[in-house]
Amino acid sequence: MTHNGTPPRAASAAIYPGSFDPMTIGHLDVIERAASIFPRVLVAVVVNPQKREPLFTLDERKQMIIAATKHCGNVDVTDFRGLLAGFVKQIGAGVIVKGLRVVSDFENEMATALMNRSLSGVDTVFLPSDPRYSFISSSLVKEVFFLGGEIEHYVPEAVLQVMRAKRAILRPTEPTEENRPS
Ligand code: PNS
Repeated sequence: MTHNGTPPRAASAAIYPGSFDPMTIGHLDVIERAASIFPRVLVAVVVNPQKREPLFTLDERKQMIIAATKHCGNVDVTDFRGLLAGFVKQIGAGVIVKGLRVVSDFENEMATALMNRSLSGVDTVFLPSDPRYSFISSSLVKEVFFLGGEIEHYVPEAVLQVMRAKRAILRPTEPTEENRPS
């Protein structure tokens, strides 16, 4: 018990929220490191990212994370909509985990962490990105991929497969020598 009689939260789940549209190798690195620090990590996929309409459905985003983290015994994947602080309180998470890729991430993440703590009483722990991954973002990965660039070093294998399938749906018939209109 804490000094005011409430149960300590430290042993409960760490929640790692994000859009994961799609998950990158940088996200996976943060999850693996969080899983080695905390007894349980809950990756929480936001249903409607505020930035823009996601490329991948909620189910696709969750399935990619489940496939990429199946080697981690203490990682679960869920989703939430609305306020993160409300969801954190609802499930009784002990801590929020966020990755910081570059120094400029810090300003916004600091304010967000303070707001989340004010709303929920739950603190945020920042994990600095591995320098090998600090330039990798979901939006850059999508841009490079759909412009024909190679991305296999930037996303887990499970994500690569889903992205290739998505590209085949979005561009069903690339012109070939056989079907090219004359
Ligand atoms: O991967 P992202 O897009 O950087 O993740 C952002 C996310 C989902 C963590 C953030 O947008 C979020 O917490 N959204 C929930 C809405 C919310 O709680 N807003 C108030 C923040 S203080």
